Amino acid sequence: MVRQRQRASNIHPVTPAALRAAAARLRRGQLVAFPTETVYGLGASALDETAVAKIFTAKGRPADNPVIVHVSDRKMLRSVARQVPATAMKLIARFWPGPLTLVLPKKSAVASLVTAGLDTVAVRMPKGLARDLVRLTGVPVAAPSANLSGRPSPTTAAHVAHDFPGLFVLDGGPTRHGLESTVVAFDPPRILRQGAITEEEIRDFLGKANRAKAAGGQREGRLARGGPRFRAGPAESPGTRYRHYAPARPLILFLGRKDLFAYAEAHPDALVLCPGWLAPFFSASRVIPLGDSIEEIARNLFAALRTRRRGRELLVLAVPRRGLGRAVMDRLERAATRIV
Ligand code: TXA
Ligand code: MG
Repeated sequence: MVRQRQRASNIHPVTPAALRAAAARLRRGQLVAFPTETVYGLGASALDETAVAKIFTAKGRPADNPVIVHVSDRKMLRSVARQVPATAMKLIARFWPGPLTLVLPKKSAVASLVTAGLDTVAVRMPKGLARDLVRLTGVPVAAPSANLSGRPSPTTAAHVAHDFPGLFVLDGGPTRHGLESTVVAFDPPRILRQGAITEEEIRDFLGKANRAKAAGGQREGRLARGGPRFRAGPAESPGTRYRHYAPARPLILFLGRKDLFAYAEAHPDALVLCPGWLAPFFSASRVIPLGDSIEEIARNLFAALRTRRRGRELLVLAVPRRGLGRAVMDRLERAATRIV
């Protein structure tokens, strides 16, 4: 009981005073968890090596997995990135502030722990409260997702408090997208991690920007072809090397509905995570409906992976690999102990 009260006192509903307190903590080199439009982040000043080291220690994150730097404006972007390619400028004009992270040549002011010694830095300008916090802090904020390394990303303050009891958490309610930002590298532009902005949106936008330029005959800035199964190699996207998003029990990902039905029938002690339309086929006591649209499924996925409900294993039905479905499938494949 006492423990719970203590924990709750570290969770601060968003008020101007709480925002100021969070910014002051960041400036002093302390950690703060805060909501972004994607998932909750575990932040520290990106210019303070000692502060960034605390992130890695708290998460148990391998030192070779670099962290995203959050900026509030273009001036702050220029303080961390040495150069911004033309295609990146276009993407910034279209998608920032928002869930798009760009991998750019780094400036030396950025603590080298942030970038795991790489000469590039991943930068994004978040939308809303997280941007307000960075602006108030006055320095770029390094922040990976606020979960223990390997666990599902947090989409509520309670998820953060579960992984880090006692940590200062700004509570802005459940996050909007529920999936992390899309990570894009240059040049040529290519997606290193599928995320809240879809490959189709980026491809369409760059395609249109190109056609508008066609009079000049130049065709820079097309998104490199990867296809639905495109995944950057470990050298390019260090985070992809590790198992991620793992729930506390086995997760089986089913590519077909029939296999899911058969397995669920034979294993009545398993929980089923599925789209809303499929939920009525299972008894209410064992099903977690994820939602009807792919946006809802994306928003609810990580909370469902953290469910406290009883069940020996989690059974999840695949979604079509298009739009946000690509990011959802990427997370499910990484979370799965088995794919059937
Ligand atoms: O939505 C998000 O992106 C959230 C919120 C808090 O902003 N952050 C997030 O951070 O998901 P994290 O650390 O969980 O994931 C960062 C990803 C990892 O896959 C990492 O390998 C990649 O970005 N990354 C970071 N810096 C990189 C770099 N210089 N080159 C290539 N990949 C990089
Ligand atoms: Mg993460």
